Amino acid sequence: MENKNHIVIVSAVRTPFSRFDSAMAVIPSIDLGMMVMKEVIQRVGVKPSEVDDIYYGSCIPAEVALETDVPARQATLLAGFPEENISVSLDRACCSSLTALRFGVMSIRAGEAKIAMAVGSENMPRTPHLAPGLRSGTRLGHIKLIDCLFELGYQAKGFNPVAKDAGEVAVEYGVTREMQDEWALGSQEKYAKAFAGGKFKVGEELMPVVIPQKKGDPIVIDKDESPRKTSMEALAKLKTIYGSPTVTAGNAPPISAGASAILFMTREEAEERGLKPLATIVATVASATAPRGIATIPAHTIEKVLSRAEMTIDQMDMIEINEAFAAMPLVSTKLLAGGDEKKWKELRDKTNVNGGAIAIGHPVGASAARITMTMAYELRRRGGGYGVASICGGLAQGEAVVVKV
Ligand SMILES: CC(C)(COP(=O)(O)OP(=O)(O)OC[C@H]1O[C@@H](n2cnc3c(N)ncnc32)[C@H](O)[C@@H]1OP(=O)(O)O)[C@@H](O)C(=O)NCCC(=O)NCCS
Repeated sequence: MENKNHIVIVSAVRTPFSRFDSAMAVIPSIDLGMMVMKEVIQRVGVKPSEVDDIYYGSCIPAEVALETDVPARQATLLAGFPEENISVSLDRACCSSLTALRFGVMSIRAGEAKIAMAVGSENMPRTPHLAPGLRSGTRLGHIKLIDCLFELGYQAKGFNPVAKDAGEVAVEYGVTREMQDEWALGSQEKYAKAFAGGKFKVGEELMPVVIPQKKGDPIVIDKDESPRKTSMEALAKLKTIYGSPTVTAGNAPPISAGASAILFMTREEAEERGLKPLATIVATVASATAPRGIATIPAHTIEKVLSRAEMTIDQMDMIEINEAFAAMPLVSTKLLAGGDEKKWKELRDKTNVNGGAIAIGHPVGASAARITMTMAYELRRRGGGYGVASICGGLAQGEAVVVKV
């Protein structure tokens, strides 16, 4: 039954996700955020003054630090939202833009907001090196530079690189390097097929990024920059990274820039505005487990959100599990299948059907909203259905959403 109080997504858009050495690498993540915030409302004729709450995820603070802090507030003002607009910058690692959606849902349910926006934005290639100690001066000796992108592993506080934890746990679950390479190859091939079929074109989830040049025409980026042709032989040759037994540059996502935004409101509000919802938000949840279990957290979070929705995994027509590494969809679908090999294959076949972060890229704060909209647009192309999207984030946090289209 459609209920007027249900919360519906009315608009969802993202920039293309970049390569490491992209023209996008010079654009502050705040500006990428601003681009999607303007586009997501403009597509459905909602005015900036009508958006009550903006939740904005970003989780590489060293890049944001080039513009000081409060990226949500800065992007909101730069994008032309009223000075009185309420916004929050949040960091729940790669989960952030789904956390933003969940907080917006809570605001609407609590009656604090009628219309809310979830944003995620990141520019990983732009992350500067840190030079600690310079403020107090270096009397003698070499200056130390820290690369926050290296290992993405919270090593300074004694935690493992994510690639190490994910790879080790995958092996413990019987998910081998070869299986991870096969998944990575599949991700690239599924993306290539979807792209050739016109699924990742400007107008649905994608908007172009236009970069003015001092001389000549602007650079226009209108497609994801990382997808590549590969083979099992090429993948098998790659060295593992960061002490992981299985993770390589081929079965990991690349380092990317990009931004995503989702606009949502009650069905009643959408109807009054004559807007056709893209999807109904059925349930949202967060979870966390021991840091080492990061490859398992999408499964636990999916179980939790399905229990909240009073549904089962078999009722889901599509599943999105972010390819933080290939280990995550493999370990998590295996757990969801509960040891049943046939069911594991069925679940794998409906997971990331158009490819995932390994091909598309993973600008960390923007990816959770990306998997949600990729799934919603695909469900719409299929004429509707239910889908569950889940993502893991640093030190084994999880976020998940069930949508109905
Ligand atoms: C894995 C990682 C370190 C690789 O960085 P990089 O070395 O700059 O990546 P490159 O694209 O240059 O790839 C390295 C090599 O692998 C090769 N390669 C990458 N993907 C390949 C593929 N699918 N098939 C064949 N070769 C591939 C490249 O051609 C390159 O080869 P070269 O050294 O001979 O030029 C980096 O992408 C990374 O850290 N990714 C994970 C990000 C992350 O942790 N995100 C959060 C998850 S929680």
